[in-house]
Amino acid sequence: MHTAQKIMKVFITRRIPQEGLKILSQAGVCKVSLWDSDEPVPRAELLKGVAGAHGLLCLLSDKIDTEVLDAAGPNLKVISTLSVGFDHMAMDEIKKRGVRVGYTPDVLTDATAELTVALLLATARRLPEGVVEVINGGWSTWKPLWLCGYGLSGSTVGVIGLGRIGMAIARRLKPFGVKKLLYSGRTAKSYAAEVEGEYVPLDTLVSESDFVVVSCALTPDTQGLCNKDFFCKMKNTAVFINTSRGAVVNQEDLYQALSSGQIACAGLDVTTPEPLPTDHPLLTLKNCVVLPHIGSATYSTRGVMAELSANNLLAGLQGTDMPSELKF
Ligand code: NDP
Ligand code: DGY
Repeated sequence: MHTAQKIMKVFITRRIPQEGLKILSQAGVCKVSLWDSDEPVPRAELLKGVAGAHGLLCLLSDKIDTEVLDAAGPNLKVISTLSVGFDHMAMDEIKKRGVRVGYTPDVLTDATAELTVALLLATARRLPEGVVEVINGGWSTWKPLWLCGYGLSGSTVGVIGLGRIGMAIARRLKPFGVKKLLYSGRTAKSYAAEVEGEYVPLDTLVSESDFVVVSCALTPDTQGLCNKDFFCKMKNTAVFINTSRGAVVNQEDLYQALSSGQIACAGLDVTTPEPLPTDHPLLTLKNCVVLPHIGSATYSTRGVMAELSANNLLAGLQGTDMPSELKF
């Protein structure tokens, strides 16, 4: 006897690009309920929306912890996050419950690496300061000693976490004339040969680099990695860039390092918290450039991320292979 296929319930925690919604609506296997806003779903609405769901499509700003998993209940088969980072999810709890996880690696690598290079150049060559001077009338004439910064040519660049994005950053920086490319992480990478990358202990990277670029995952080991001790080892002329996660950096220690001249300048695409409050001390510093977590923000990348997260979700609902399943 033919049994009708059961329509499964899916909760999406934010308005996402149409490309993803279209895939889900055309699949005919799930009923989608969506928090149809650009702003984060309030916690109470998340707990309500996820109740009884078979699938959850979430963002990096949603904390997926025991409370959410309990609220979802035993139906939950799959969580698909619209991100490559997964530090917002309680992986141990998710694993215990046998829930599969989809994420969006690779498709955002180029966009994020490109933004990292843009932030590095903007920070090192003081672009935001220059723009403000032009607008405010501070540009009186061409001055030999005005608004000088630091260039990549002949420099040593240190990449912390030479993963997908770290490697894409290294590839883009090398043609600027970088003399030495150092990297650190848990293991040496054979693919680093392409950029003549030298695997070194973190201390060596920090003390020898003119540019320190953080592109590692946020884990218990990397949380607070960039602290007072770390900044004290950096050169006074060094540039610090973070496009990984805000919590890798101790922001009080970074403020001290920047305001005391311990390091030259910093560019951050990620902070703790997000958004960074407008009265945060870091925002008073001319030598600190802060962006609102826009590493992957190109129209096409966000569209492809939405497609991938929808396809991951569908595979999880149907028990088939996911295009990008997180194995943990
Ligand atoms: P990968 O998994 O490819 O790379 C992560 C890297 O982190 C690996 O090379 C790993 O090195 C390194 N790492 C892990 N533990 C440590 C440690 N203890 N010390 C130093 N390095 C460590 O991920 P992606 O490159 O795709 O993404 C990296 C991160 O970038 C994401 O987790 C996310 O947080 C962030 N991101 C930010 C974006 C933005 O908009 N700003 C956009 C996209 C991602 P090893 O292999 O040696 O362990
Ligand atoms: C990620 O994917 O982890 C980024 O932070 C946003 O694209």
